[in-house]
Amino acid sequence: MMKILVMYSSLTGNTAKVAAAIHTALPSGSVLAKITPQLDMRNYDLIFAGFWVDKGTADQAAKTALLGLQNKKVALFATLGAAPNTIHAQNCLQEAAALLHESNTLLGSYYCQGKIDPQLLERFKSLTADHPHALTPEATARHQAAATHPDAADLQAAGIFAKNILAKLL
Ligand SMILES: Cc1cc2nc3c(=O)[nH]c(=O)nc-3n(C[C@H](O)[C@H](O)[C@H](O)COP(=O)(O)O)c2cc1C
Repeated sequence: MMKILVMYSSLTGNTAKVAAAIHTALPSGSVLAKITPQLDMRNYDLIFAGFWVDKGTADQAAKTALLGLQNKKVALFATLGAAPNTIHAQNCLQEAAALLHESNTLLGSYYCQGKIDPQLLERFKSLTADHPHALTPEATARHQAAATHPDAADLQAAGIFAKNILAKLL
């Protein structure tokens, strides 16, 4: 039987929620685990690998895990502050996919918005207008749009994504 791991990195819980939704959609016996240096990825055939976007790519813990994968079927998932269907979101997924060794097979990817840490936003308040993270009206609107995510629809879509990945392997 195919052994499945859902592994994820999550600083403030958004990506952990998506990971749990994916795990719930998978056959019983699938393993859900936070990425740690101790996580043993060797015994799995299919790995759902989740990260939060940090400065345009996968966060450091996820990066290290992705670089360590060989001969796996892989599905990527992520949360990020930026809106879906932006070039930025697509670039972030591409950056992460590019970390995978050529012996892996990338089966698909899923991402959704994730609310930005309120503590980080608090720190942005003191930035001057010329700073890229300054709280301009546009930036504030973007942050408000992200603030409700991942929502129930995002989690449902994540589950459908997981089932679609499995269907590719039947
Ligand atoms: C240090 C830091 C850097 C971030 N960089 C980006 C970024 O480059 N692009 C983006 O769209 N979101 C960025 N975000 C937003 C996070 O990717 C987003 O809030 C994500 O859902 C956090 O996931 P988590 O709750 O699983 O940690 C950043 C957040 C932090 C804290």
